[in-house]
Amino acid sequence: MIVVIGSINMDLVLRVPRMPLPGETLTGGAFRTIPGGKGANQAVACARLSGKVAAGGQQVAMVGCVGDDAFGATLRAALVGDGIIDSHITTLPGVASGIASILVDDNGQNSIVIAGGANDLLSPAHIDAAKGLIEQADIVVLQLETPMATVVHAIKLARSLGKTVVLNPAPAASLPQGVLELVDYLIPNEIEAAMLAGVSPQGADAKALAAALQKLGSDNVIITLGSKGVHAALYGGDYDFAAEVVQAVDTTAAGDTFIGGFVAGLASGMDEAEAIGQGQRAAAWSVTKPGAQTSIPHLHELF
Ligand code: RIB
Ligand code: NA
Repeated sequence: MIVVIGSINMDLVLRVPRMPLPGETLTGGAFRTIPGGKGANQAVACARLSGKVAAGGQQVAMVGCVGDDAFGATLRAALVGDGIIDSHITTLPGVASGIASILVDDNGQNSIVIAGGANDLLSPAHIDAAKGLIEQADIVVLQLETPMATVVHAIKLARSLGKTVVLNPAPAASLPQGVLELVDYLIPNEIEAAMLAGVSPQGADAKALAAALQKLGSDNVIITLGSKGVHAALYGGDYDFAAEVVQAVDTTAAGDTFIGGFVAGLASGMDEAEAIGQGQRAAAWSVTKPGAQTSIPHLHELF
């Protein structure tokens, strides 16, 4: 089983011809609400890219919080619709669900502002309540869209139970000392990697960043570089993976899709290089489609 601990957002998405300047009013395209949130996207990607449970795919469970508003109900239903176990998704009374306000321009680039809502209230107590679930996991996946104290608590619990810990340190933040030592697979983009290594992202080299993060304690560091591919510093050596060339429509959740493809691959017994390849193929597919969870492929769509 794969357990994903993290955020669940409703994405409020507008297409724009280009990003607006301060004080400017632009006319955008149609407005859409699309299920998102880094945690939920990664859970959906794990589920879709593991294949059907009945056919030997992995069971996926999500730990997180939604509000008792209409978005919360829709977001939970979307996850259940993907076969994800929702027993430890808590609906918090009187709280708004997390949202992300997203602009996507004609080049497929996005800018995102998040209001954490219920995600900000995911607490160590919620993690402890999910201990029985986490005990059943092989791999536990986390990001940084929920409170840092909760993320750290969950990583410590997962590690103490002998689970493989995957951390996507997004959005970029620095981590309390000692946390990287508890991470088996750290999967940042370049900016997040530079932040964790304590260097400026300008001119930072992926190979040097990965080596620095390994030195800080993470066993394996996989840096996603967008159209420049992936650099992986694995326990056994250093590897570069080129990206497939695709016409980007919307890059929202490309990183989440990569992580889901990678984790689903590992859970099904692939080695790291194969799992990275699966993640890349899935992420390349996702950038050709609009939206977050609407753009995550199923395993059979990749071949
Ligand atoms: O990684 C993409 C996600 O980031 C979006 O779905 C949005 O909700 C934000 O959390
Ligand atoms: Na997309």
